[in-house]
Amino acid sequence: MVKTKTCVFISGAGSNFFALLKRSNNYNFPIKINLVISDNPRAKGLLIARKMGIPFKIFKTKGLIHEVKILKFLKEKKISLILLAGFMKILSKRFIKKFGKDIINIHPSLLPKFKGLNTYHKVLSNNEVKTGCTIHFVNEKLDSGQIILQKKFYINKKDNVTSLKRKTQRLEHKSYPEAVIKIFRK
Ligand code: GRF
Repeated sequence: MVKTKTCVFISGAGSNFFALLKRSNNYNFPIKINLVISDNPRAKGLLIARKMGIPFKIFKTKGLIHEVKILKFLKEKKISLILLAGFMKILSKRFIKKFGKDIINIHPSLLPKFKGLNTYHKVLSNNEVKTGCTIHFVNEKLDSGQIILQKKFYINKKDNVTSLKRKTQRLEHKSYPEAVIKIFRK
Protein backbone atom coordinates (compact mmCIF):
# COMPACT_ATOMS: atom_id res chain seq x y z
CA MET A 1 0.00 0.00 0.00
CA VAL A 2 1.29 3.46 -0.91
CA LYS A 3 1.03 5.58 2.21
CA THR A 4 0.56 9.33 2.19
CA LYS A 5 3.63 11.20 3.38
CA THR A 6 2.59 13.02 6.53
CA CYS A 7 4.06 15.58 8.87
CA VAL A 8 2.76 16.01 12.43
CA PHE A 9 3.09 19.47 13.99
CA ILE A 10 3.48 19.51 17.77
CA SER A 11 4.33 21.93 20.58
CA GLY A 12 3.97 19.79 23.68
CA ALA A 13 3.54 16.29 25.07
CA GLY A 14 2.88 14.64 21.73
CA SER A 15 0.44 12.03 23.04
CA ASN A 16 -1.71 12.36 19.90
CA PHE A 17 1.38 12.13 17.73
CA PHE A 18 2.29 8.89 19.54
CA ALA A 19 -1.22 7.48 19.12
CA LEU A 20 -1.09 8.25 15.39
CA LEU A 21 2.40 6.82 15.07
CA LYS A 22 1.38 3.53 16.67
CA ARG A 23 -1.57 3.19 14.30
CA SER A 24 0.45 4.24 11.27
CA ASN A 25 2.72 1.23 11.75
CA ASN A 26 -0.26 -0.89 10.74
CA TYR A 27 0.10 -2.04 7.15
CA ASN A 28 -3.43 -0.91 6.23
CA PHE A 29 -3.23 2.54 7.79
CA PRO A 30 -3.28 5.11 4.95
CA ILE A 31 -0.49 7.41 6.16
CA LYS A 32 3.16 7.24 7.13
CA ILE A 33 4.54 9.79 9.56
CA ASN A 34 7.71 10.89 7.82
CA LEU A 35 8.35 14.01 9.81
CA VAL A 36 7.58 15.92 13.00
CA ILE A 37 7.79 19.70 13.20
CA SER A 38 7.80 21.65 16.44
CA ASP A 39 8.02 25.32 17.30
CA ASN A 40 9.10 24.34 20.81
CA PRO A 41 12.55 22.79 21.29
CA ARG A 42 11.45 21.48 24.70
CA ALA A 43 8.32 19.70 23.43
CA LYS A 44 8.21 16.26 25.09
CA GLY A 45 6.86 14.86 21.84
CA LEU A 46 10.31 15.37 20.30
CA LEU A 47 11.68 12.76 22.71
CA ILE A 48 9.10 10.32 21.33
CA ALA A 49 10.18 11.16 17.77
CA ARG A 50 13.84 10.63 18.68
CA LYS A 51 13.14 7.34 20.44
CA MET A 52 10.99 6.03 17.61
CA GLY A 53 13.39 7.16 14.89
CA ILE A 54 11.08 9.69 13.27
CA PRO A 55 12.89 12.67 11.69
CA PHE A 56 12.05 15.95 13.37
CA LYS A 57 12.81 19.60 12.85
CA ILE A 58 12.46 22.54 15.19
CA PHE A 59 11.44 25.90 13.82
CA LYS A 60 12.14 27.95 16.91
CA THR A 61 10.65 31.37 17.07
CA LYS A 62 9.60 34.01 19.56
CA GLY A 63 6.68 35.40 17.59
CA LEU A 64 5.49 34.42 14.15
CA ILE A 65 6.71 31.09 12.83
CA HIS A 66 8.93 30.96 9.76
CA GLU A 67 6.21 29.79 7.44
CA VAL A 68 8.23 30.23 4.25
CA LYS A 69 11.02 28.05 5.63
CA ILE A 70 8.54 25.45 6.82
CA LEU A 71 6.79 25.34 3.44
CA LYS A 72 10.11 24.90 1.67
CA PHE A 73 11.07 22.09 4.01
CA LEU A 74 7.71 20.31 3.58
CA LYS A 75 8.11 20.52 -0.17
CA GLU A 76 11.62 19.08 -0.01
CA LYS A 77 10.31 16.17 2.04
CA LYS A 78 7.33 15.71 -0.33
CA ILE A 79 4.81 15.97 2.48
CA SER A 80 1.17 15.72 1.32
CA LEU A 81 -0.70 15.89 4.62
CA ILE A 82 -0.26 17.91 7.80
CA LEU A 83 -1.73 16.74 11.09
CA LEU A 84 -1.75 19.36 13.83
CA ALA A 85 -1.54 17.71 17.23
CA GLY A 86 -1.28 20.28 19.98
CA PHE A 87 0.55 22.79 17.78
CA MET A 88 0.24 26.11 19.55
CA LYS A 89 0.90 28.47 16.64
CA ILE A 90 -1.78 29.64 14.24
CA LEU A 91 -1.05 28.97 10.57
CA SER A 92 -1.71 31.91 8.29
CA LYS A 93 -4.19 31.97 5.43
CA ARG A 94 -1.20 32.26 3.11
CA PHE A 95 0.46 29.14 4.55
CA ILE A 96 -2.75 27.12 4.15
CA LYS A 97 -3.16 28.30 0.57
CA LYS A 98 0.47 27.75 -0.39
CA PHE A 99 0.59 24.26 1.11
CA GLY A 100 -2.49 23.51 -0.97
CA LYS A 101 -3.18 20.08 0.53
CA ASP A 102 -5.12 18.89 3.56
CA ILE A 103 -4.27 20.20 7.01
CA ILE A 104 -6.16 18.62 9.90
CA ASN A 105 -6.45 19.61 13.54
CA ILE A 106 -7.74 18.06 16.75
CA HIS A 107 -9.50 20.18 19.36
CA PRO A 108 -10.57 19.07 22.85
CA SER A 109 -14.21 20.19 22.70
CA LEU A 110 -17.36 19.65 20.72
CA LEU A 111 -16.78 22.40 18.17
CA PRO A 112 -18.17 24.94 17.43
CA LYS A 113 -18.35 25.18 21.21
CA PHE A 114 -15.29 26.42 23.07
CA LYS A 115 -12.81 27.37 20.39
CA GLY A 116 -9.33 28.56 21.35
CA LEU A 117 -7.47 28.03 24.61
CA ASN A 118 -8.43 26.92 28.14
CA THR A 119 -11.03 24.57 26.76
CA TYR A 120 -11.50 22.33 29.81
CA HIS A 121 -11.98 25.30 32.07
CA LYS A 122 -14.58 26.76 29.67
CA VAL A 123 -16.44 23.44 29.44
CA LEU A 124 -16.65 23.15 33.24
CA SER A 125 -17.60 26.74 33.92
CA ASN A 126 -20.37 26.49 31.36
CA ASN A 127 -21.85 23.48 33.22
CA GLU A 128 -21.88 21.33 30.11
CA VAL A 129 -23.49 17.89 30.31
CA LYS A 130 -21.34 16.40 27.56
CA THR A 131 -17.96 17.13 26.06
CA GLY A 132 -15.55 15.38 23.71
CA CYS A 133 -13.17 16.04 20.88
CA THR A 134 -13.36 17.23 17.29
CA ILE A 135 -11.12 16.48 14.33
CA HIS A 136 -11.54 19.02 11.54
CA PHE A 137 -9.97 20.43 8.40
CA VAL A 138 -8.03 23.62 9.00
CA ASN A 139 -9.18 26.81 7.31
CA GLU A 140 -8.19 30.42 7.84
CA LYS A 141 -10.45 30.81 10.89
CA LEU A 142 -9.43 29.35 14.25
CA ASP A 143 -11.01 25.93 15.03
CA SER A 144 -13.65 26.49 12.35
CA GLY A 145 -12.98 24.20 9.38
CA GLN A 146 -15.23 21.38 8.21
CA ILE A 147 -15.70 18.70 10.87
CA ILE A 148 -14.44 15.21 10.02
CA LEU A 149 -15.27 13.42 13.24
CA GLN A 150 -16.60 14.23 16.67
CA LYS A 151 -16.75 11.95 19.72
CA LYS A 152 -18.61 12.66 22.97
CA PHE A 153 -18.85 11.51 26.54
CA TYR A 154 -20.89 12.52 29.58
CA ILE A 155 -19.27 14.75 32.17
CA ASN A 156 -19.36 13.51 35.72
CA LYS A 157 -20.32 16.02 38.43
CA LYS A 158 -17.02 15.28 40.15
CA ASP A 159 -14.93 16.03 37.05
CA ASN A 160 -12.29 18.73 37.25
CA VAL A 161 -9.85 20.08 34.66
CA THR A 162 -7.41 17.20 35.28
CA SER A 163 -9.96 14.41 34.96
CA LEU A 164 -11.66 16.05 31.99
CA LYS A 165 -8.34 16.36 30.20
CA ARG A 166 -7.49 12.72 30.91
CA LYS A 167 -10.87 11.51 29.61
CA THR A 168 -10.82 13.80 26.56
CA GLN A 169 -7.31 12.80 25.59
CA ARG A 170 -8.09 9.09 25.94
CA LEU A 171 -10.89 9.67 23.45
CA GLU A 172 -8.64 11.78 21.20
CA HIS A 173 -6.08 8.99 20.89
CA LYS A 174 -8.73 6.68 19.43
CA SER A 175 -10.51 9.33 17.39
CA TYR A 176 -7.61 11.00 15.52
CA PRO A 177 -6.52 7.78 13.76
CA GLU A 178 -10.19 7.02 13.01
CA ALA A 179 -10.61 10.47 11.43
CA VAL A 180 -7.52 9.89 9.27
CA ILE A 181 -9.01 6.63 7.98
CA LYS A 182 -12.27 8.46 7.31
CA ILE A 183 -10.75 11.12 5.05
CA PHE A 184 -9.12 8.45 2.91
CA ARG A 185 -12.47 6.72 2.42
CA LYS A 186 -14.19 9.77 0.92
C1 GRF B 1 -4.76 17.82 22.62
O1 GRF B 1 -5.63 17.68 23.69
C2 GRF B 1 -5.41 18.53 21.46
O2 GRF B 1 -6.80 18.42 21.44
C3 GRF B 1 -5.02 19.97 21.64
O3 GRF B 1 -3.77 19.95 22.23
C4 GRF B 1 -3.60 18.75 22.98
C5 GRF B 1 -2.27 18.17 22.61
O4 GRF B 1 -1.87 17.12 23.42
N1 GRF B 1 -5.09 20.66 20.37
P1 GRF B 1 -0.70 16.18 23.01
O5 GRF B 1 0.53 17.05 22.75
O6 GRF B 1 -1.11 15.43 21.76
O7 GRF B 1 -0.48 15.25 24.17
